[in-house]
Amino acid sequence: METTTSSAVIQVRGLVKKYGEFTAVDGISFEVAPRECLGFLGPNGAGKTTTVKVIACASPFTSGSVTVLGHDVTREPRRVKERLGVCPQDNNTDPDFSVARNLEVYARYFGIPSREARARAAELLSWMNLGEKANAKIAALSGGMHRRLVIARALINRPEVVLLDEPTTGLDPQARHAIWDLVRDLKARGTTILLTTHYMEEASQLCDRVLFIDGGRILLEGAPRDLIAREVGREVLECWNYGPELAGWARERGVRHEESGGRIFLHPGGDGEALKDFESRFPHQERLLRLATLEDVFLKLTGRVLREGA
Ligand SMILES: Nc1ncnc2c1ncn2[C@@H]1O[C@H](COP(=O)(O)OP(=O)(O)OP(=O)(O)O)[C@@H](O)[C@H]1O
Ligand SMILES: [Mg+2]
Repeated sequence: METTTSSAVIQVRGLVKKYGEFTAVDGISFEVAPRECLGFLGPNGAGKTTTVKVIACASPFTSGSVTVLGHDVTREPRRVKERLGVCPQDNNTDPDFSVARNLEVYARYFGIPSREARARAAELLSWMNLGEKANAKIAALSGGMHRRLVIARALINRPEVVLLDEPTTGLDPQARHAIWDLVRDLKARGTTILLTTHYMEEASQLCDRVLFIDGGRILLEGAPRDLIAREVGREVLECWNYGPELAGWARERGVRHEESGGRIFLHPGGDGEALKDFESRFPHQERLLRLATLEDVFLKLTGRVLREGA
């Protein structure tokens, strides 16, 4: 983590951000490689948006260093901003302008001539399936349309690096899948992406690598598949309506487990004998044996390590 890779598109070193006495980001270091899609995961209040804002040159920080494409965000914010696209967590569009106008006005910040801005706005709106809403007022957009507009706006300067802070929160499944396609398109064009999401399936689908953060610190980092294999194993045995003897058995048997939301999640790993033993001891236990997911990694981290260990 401490080695310097000059090819990194985003490089964050020892970033600390305090709000008064409160430390929101507590000395994190990470890099995003060219063309990589890095997932930024963690519970509410973890420090994700705070970090995204710092990278976007939208927020000062306490200590550390942050560069984008080799440019320091404090010393060269203009150089950073012209090559960066940002979809903030909140839809901060201008309600007084139409949909298309929002994009065109934003394009001005980048010095894009108005004719070119109109062409790009039309192209992006059509890509986002918002072409018919070009002249609508912001208030006339549904939540999902509004979100798509903010993503479109992030792309008006054809950025090489894109920060997407919860791009699909509140979207219906179809709209979410449309955004996933868009992110894949961006990746195929060589765009480097930092994606914040609470949807673990989204992270698994889109991200080459993910970081789990909480309390302003990085807890875990790796490719989704590797993290699942390492932290949880291939399968999860999920049980409900269970008694204390089941957790007791898991402890005795050395089977990793988490309890959360009235369920116990058993991670037998490659221990087939443990599964057989479970069957004979708890033949009538209500259960589901399924493949492990990134969500299991998240629950393991936030449910056990943090609540009990922190
Ligand atoms: N302007 C602010 N002033 C004071 N505290 C703040 C401010 N902005 C954020 N915080 C605090 O910093 C911490 C991190 O917030 P942040 O918005 O980065 O979390 P997050 O990981 O993006 O969470 P979420 O998943 O809910 O969006 C939280 O405890 C939050 O209350
Ligand atoms: Mg946030």
